[in-house]
Amino acid sequence: MSIGMLQNYSQETLGAKICIDNSWPFFLRALDSIPNKKFCTTIDYGAADGGTSMELWGRVFKKLGDKTICHIANDLPSSNLLTLADNLNELRAKFENLVVFIQPSSFYSHVAPQASINIALAATTMHWLSKIPGTFIEHIHANKVRGLRREPFRAQSVNDFDSLLEARAWEFEVGGQFVLVDLAQDDSGHLLGNNAKDKDMFDTLYDIWLQLYKAGEVSKSAFEGAVFQNYYRTGEDIWQVLNMPHHKKNWIVHEVSIQMTPCPYRSQFDLDGNASAFSEGLMKTIRSWSERTFHTSIVEHGGSSTAIKKLYDELQERIFNSPNHYSMDYVHHYIRLERR
Ligand SMILES: C[S@@+](CC[C@H](N)C(=O)[O-])C[C@H]1O[C@@H](n2cnc3c(N)ncnc32)[C@H](O)[C@@H]1O
Repeated sequence: MSIGMLQNYSQETLGAKICIDNSWPFFLRALDSIPNKKFCTTIDYGAADGGTSMELWGRVFKKLGDKTICHIANDLPSSNLLTLADNLNELRAKFENLVVFIQPSSFYSHVAPQASINIALAATTMHWLSKIPGTFIEHIHANKVRGLRREPFRAQSVNDFDSLLEARAWEFEVGGQFVLVDLAQDDSGHLLGNNAKDKDMFDTLYDIWLQLYKAGEVSKSAFEGAVFQNYYRTGEDIWQVLNMPHHKKNWIVHEVSIQMTPCPYRSQFDLDGNASAFSEGLMKTIRSWSERTFHTSIVEHGGSSTAIKKLYDELQERIFNSPNHYSMDYVHHYIRLERR
């Protein structure tokens, strides 16, 4: 399984929390729109260890006042469910009227009872595809290749978004509000780790991986097998799905916008000039979500995991030596849908 965050995910991904916190205005409008009932069911799809969304959910629960709240946190069973449980229990201790559940399975199937969901978040998660639809050797990420190499990933991502909205339509109650904070590629080609100013993050990872292959540190098959099982949808991809007749029937599209969130590690470096802390922090945040892809390829194709250490050591060194040229800005679609 090439999908999975490292154990200490939320401690090392300050940026993902900021991207979630930036969705608060969307939640305020969502909260204004839900039907006035005594009970409310909320869900966090692909919550990882739950740390990055705790503050947002705390604000949502506070706004819900004395309603009885059932909150579901979903992620794959391979996720860090123990820390997720701790984080959910911390929230639960603050709200008497809250009960929490962990739903440990893929959001490509139903993960909540039919017509139950009133408010939902899916942050930095639904770009992960249900399967890897093809392969290429020119890069490690589908958004960095073109034409026939990219198309199977784009098509898979469009099909997956279609399936995800179908599954959600079954789970949502009429009036239910769905806020997606979905990693994206904008019209100028910007995406996670590419802001057209600093060095492209995926190009850098690919360059180091290629160097390790050329130096004999990873085998040819392990080198070629390291392809991310994800894709960042463009506006066109999003609208291709939202405009499908069955989704138009099920969902009102209230808001779709695109937002770039600056890399907090780089912002801190710009303030304090501490290249050592910056290179360590930025390397760790990149490692938290990318290591599993390289590791799985080595496990599946044979080789030593010391190559992984060398990959991230070299990344950290490059950042340290040239800190003004590295960052990991985020690019997301912020989308608010309502179940008709
Ligand atoms: C980058 S983390 C995002 C975590 C959190 N939502 C945030 O924004 O910080 C992506 C999460 O999506 C989860 N994920 C990927 N595919 C999934 C699937 N099919 N079903 C449920 N969770 C999935 C991963 O396990 C991982 O925990």
